[in-house]
This record gives sequence, C-alpha cells and structure tokens, in this order.
Amino acid sequence: MAERKLKRVDLDTLVSLSKRRGIVFQSSEIYGGVGSVWDYGPIGVELKRNVKNLWWQAMVRERDDIVGLDAAILMNPEVWAASGHISNFTDPMVECKKCHHRFRVDNIQGKACPDCAGELTEPRMFNLMFKTFMGAVEEEAAVVYLRPETAQGIFVNFSNVQQTTRRKLPFGIAQIGKSFRNEITPGNFIFRTREFEQMEMEFFCKPGTDEEWHRFWIHFSVDFFKRYGIRGEKLRVRHHEESELPHYSTGSADVEYEFPWGWGELETISDRTDFDLKAHMQRSGKDLSYFDEETKERYVPFVIEPAMGADRTALAFLADAYDEEEAAPAEGPGKAGDKRVVLRFHPDIAPVTVAVLPLSRNEKLVPTAKKVHDILRPLFNTQYDDSQSIGRRYRRQDEIGTPLCVTVDFETVEKDDSVTIRNRDLMTQVRVPIARLAEAVREQLDVMRKDCHG
Ligand code: GAP
Repeated sequence: MAERKLKRVDLDTLVSLSKRRGIVFQSSEIYGGVGSVWDYGPIGVELKRNVKNLWWQAMVRERDDIVGLDAAILMNPEVWAASGHISNFTDPMVECKKCHHRFRVDNIQGKACPDCAGELTEPRMFNLMFKTFMGAVEEEAAVVYLRPETAQGIFVNFSNVQQTTRRKLPFGIAQIGKSFRNEITPGNFIFRTREFEQMEMEFFCKPGTDEEWHRFWIHFSVDFFKRYGIRGEKLRVRHHEESELPHYSTGSADVEYEFPWGWGELETISDRTDFDLKAHMQRSGKDLSYFDEETKERYVPFVIEPAMGADRTALAFLADAYDEEEAAPAEGPGKAGDKRVVLRFHPDIAPVTVAVLPLSRNEKLVPTAKKVHDILRPLFNTQYDDSQSIGRRYRRQDEIGTPLCVTVDFETVEKDDSVTIRNRDLMTQVRVPIARLAEAVREQLDVMRKDCHG
C-alpha cells in the first residue's frame, strides 16, 4: 500500500476551499450569517451523504444485530425531564453586566469581561436545549424542546422495536438525524455548531456484558474511520476522567482526530448502563424491561452507545484528504511551479466519483461525451463539465477530490471509440474503449480504495 504523506492544512484554507467549491456556506450569508450554523453546498451535501450512508451500511446493513429507526425531533417534554437533560444538560455561565456577552466559566481567565473588561455576574447554570412552543399559545405548558441528542428517540421506542422485530438481546437500534444545542462556545467551522447531525446507535445487552461490548464498539468505531481513509496516526482513543463523564455514563471513551487546531472529539462511546430505560420506566410508568427466554430472567438491559457527529466526521475527512503539490505543467492552465490542490478522498467518500470532460465544447465532442456520461451515471456519482479549458476543469475536480476524470477527445470520435481515464493520485492517463469503460473505472476505484485505507 502506498504511504500517504499529506500536507497539513489550516482551518482558514479549508473554509475558503469549502466556499470556493460549494462544499459549505455560511447559513443566511446574505444577511450576515447566523451564529455557528452552516449550509452544505452541492459538493458538501454529497460528502456528508456519503458519510451517513457508509455509517448506515457498516452499522445496519452489514450487521445482523442492528436495526434502524427514524424518530421525530420533537418529543414529549417528559422525555427530557426523565433523561436528565432538563436538570443536567447545562454549562456554568457568567454574563457581562455591560455588554451582556455570555461566557462559559471554564473558558475565561480573570474576573473581567474578555470583550469589554466589564463586571461579570456570578456563575449560573445555562441549559443547552433550544425551546419552542407547540400549538397556538406561547405559554409554559406548551414548551417543547428541539432534541439535543437522537438517543432518546431510541430509548422510548425500545419496546416497540424489540416487540415488532422479535429481537433477542444483544441487539442495537441505529438512527441518523438532526440535533440542536445552544452551545455557548461554538466554533471551528462545522466542528461545533448549534444545529448538527448525529449518527447514534444504542446497543442493548445483558447487564454484566456491557464492558466487553464497550471495548468492541470502541474498536469498531476506530476501524470505521480507517476503513474510509483516515490515517491511523491522526486518530486516538481517549478515556474520560471521572469528572468529565456525562450524567448518564459510567464509562466513556472519545475517538479523537488531530484537527488543524489540535485533537478534537469525533465520537463518544459510552456505557449508559440501564440509566435511560430505568428513568423512562419510572417517569412513564411503562415497563421497558426484557424477558430472556433462555435464562427465564427479566431485567432492564444495559446500553452501549457509539455516538458520532456527521458534520465533524465530514470535516475530519476533508482535513485528512487535503494535499498540495507542484502542478504538472502539461495539464495547464498555469506555469511550472504552480500549486495543485487535491483532496485525496477515499473513492466512497469523494462527493463526485467520476467526471466526464470533453476536451472542448466542440460540437463533434459534446454528443459523444454526453453519451459516455449516460453510460456512467447510473453506476457512479458523476459530473459532466464542459466549461473553460480542460486544465482548469482538472484543477476543479482535484479540488473536490474526484478520483477519476474521463476525457473525450477528437480521437474518440474520429478514430478509436476510446476515452482517457485520468487518475487523481497516480496522474496516469489510460486509454480504454468506451465498451470497457465502466469495468475499467471500477478496477481503478478498487485499487484506490486499497491505497486509501488508513
Ligand atoms: N447521545 C450521546 C451524545 O450526544 P455527545 O458526546 O454529546 O454524546 C456525540 O455527542 C457526538 O455528536 C460528538 O462526538 C460529536 O461528534 C457530535 N456533536 C455533539 N455536539 C456537537 C455540536 N455542537 N456540533 C457538532 N457536532 C456535535
């Protein structure tokens, strides 16, 4: 396997590349944006969708012991009272009496406001859940919350899923969806935002087997990132100190990635014990225990939870794929010594897998190029591009990490019915008959998959 020596990248470079290439835009940009909320552009939406689909594939479709769920964002507020989020999902905050900016206590040094040196209030607890009202009347009784984690939708459906699927323990329920947190110190682009997507799985198991499953799911998570190209040396597992454990956990480990600003959490794998099911049993009065037919025992299952953020994972894939090198002058449009920016995505992560590029917009080339595109588009995620020079188009495809470009030229239409496949990483140009194109693309992608393994 080829060793990948990628360039380190700073966050500003990633933010401007994302804007330039339609990966991520600031939300409501024409109004000056809105605090730490981002929109995914035409390329970014494909990247994030690939991340979610691959997680779903690895978690649900490739396993016999996990099923899927898509629960609603809005839930009965009793859920959040039972889960502890109303009383525990808080950060200690101070507010400046002059400029009214708020800060997390653990983020400030000294006793004055970091922004205007004004006097600060005493710390008070600030709940991170967004509130809204259900129905026509804006009163306390109508308050509902935007969920701060997808997990609770799984816990309250545990019996529904277990009974309808007739599952025996251990088994898991996976879900992908939006979560919302009124973070006090969001930042680092799409790393910490107020609206984000989570990919969570709650794995229900027999009490006493939880520690073993905890270890299993930590390994599984690290393998997932490596399988799709994150380099092993950029990943680490960090076990939480007792003092950092979330209120529901007896043991948590973070899978961290070395982002441009340092190590940051991608995923937390927690041992939630029977905390949530018991809390919901108590508050709802409904029985959520499980009867083990084999041992004739009844118990409340323990839960291991791998909880991953889709946005952070997309950012890690983006940062990890970033590379720069001297451009090949033959490909233009610049001079020798120009910089070539290339995202060396794993082919299954890449937003576009194959681009079809006629050498120019010449009327002889375009119909054949469109025909070639029609052959490929049902099989791969493709893009057709005939604007500007071929050199510029190669650069654009490199900047969004397209593994293969297929070029249609005059020889294609006048002579040999063949096209050229340009390989993003090897920079080879291989001529193949159109009749064999799909197979040749598949072969090259397979080789790239092996080379991209972290
Ligand atoms: N159900 C457990 C739970 O929500 P968490 O560690 O708070 O655990 C899980 O969140 C994952 O969700 C994190 O590892 C991170 O990837 C993602 N996440 C959490 N807060 C986020 C935020 N404000 N912005 C982006 N992603 C976030």
